[in-house]
Amino acid sequence: MPFVQALHKPHQPRTGTIRFNQTSKSFLFNFTGSNRSIPSYIYHPLTRPIPQAPINSSTQKGRTKKRKQRGTKILAMASNGEQNQTESGRHQEVGHKSLLQSDALYQYILETSVYPREHEAMKELRELTAKHPWNIMTTSADEGQFLNMLLKLINAKNTMEIGVYTGYSLLATALALPEDGKILAMDINKENYELGLPVIKKAGVAHKIEFKEGPALPVLDEMIKDEKNLGSYDFIFVDADKDNYLNYHKRLIELVKVGGLIGYDNTLWNGSVVAPPDAPLRKYVRYYRDFVLELNKALAVDPRIEICMLPVGDGITLCRRIK
Ligand SMILES: C[S@@+](CC[C@H](N)C(=O)[O-])C[C@H]1O[C@@H](n2cnc3c(N)ncnc32)[C@H](O)[C@@H]1O
Repeated sequence: MPFVQALHKPHQPRTGTIRFNQTSKSFLFNFTGSNRSIPSYIYHPLTRPIPQAPINSSTQKGRTKKRKQRGTKILAMASNGEQNQTESGRHQEVGHKSLLQSDALYQYILETSVYPREHEAMKELRELTAKHPWNIMTTSADEGQFLNMLLKLINAKNTMEIGVYTGYSLLATALALPEDGKILAMDINKENYELGLPVIKKAGVAHKIEFKEGPALPVLDEMIKDEKNLGSYDFIFVDADKDNYLNYHKRLIELVKVGGLIGYDNTLWNGSVVAPPDAPLRKYVRYYRDFVLELNKALAVDPRIEICMLPVGDGITLCRRIK
């Protein structure tokens, strides 16, 4: 889940304010004119309201002006279906994150090899998700394409996904599986899953999905008690609460089969994994970064797996269980 970059780039703090809305339990980000509402469960360490803190308003004015000049918008506010067609704007507008340093290069990848080959249902779901206020959480189209091919390459049949949102990575998975393939999909928010569900149904792959609403960890705890679940998964994709990734790993390593894969998303955490200690990171980026760093260290020395960290999306680490 690459959802940070549109809001924040290390070393380039955005100008604006953050407020906590008690009613919606959301943080309201207002950066250079864009209003974004982020559900508090994503950033639950920040459980108290953040004081309104204009971050350097003169810089803000300068940036706003520059951005206007470029004719770009930071984030997709696509509720009116408006499409910003400027070259530099589209990368950010689609709300997808890439660690590539050039927007044009990322756009080239999308336009040359991703969008032209994107399944029509994936396109529909992507466009539907772009209208949702939390669209920055969605898996990027290039990562969706990557997952889809990966699953076919490994002939995955029995899979799991933790962190569904509106279901872009879920649909990429469902489309890759054979007719009798299965996905156990878990998310604490069913509403967002139900937004994408009609598209998944239309694509004819909903029968492969078993959706469980609620936190994933207790479900995993139950699963590992049952011997028939052990070593039974071909592929598991984790794209949820970063502070639990190591807890997930402890359980998932028992559930994935030897030779099977676990994919942990956001392992480069918007590049913040290499930010200097005094870098002006936002609180939630800093908070989760420590967990991502800890996970990356642990995976690197785990003798039960082989790993490969790929700079796709916000970084995905593939772990192949070897024992
Ligand atoms: C980045 S989004 C997932 C994006 C999704 N993979 C996609 O392709 O659009 C993260 C999701 O994790 C879910 N989540 C957060 N904490 C969770 C938990 N403890 N258990 C299950 N899901 C959780 C959130 O509700 C959110 O929908």
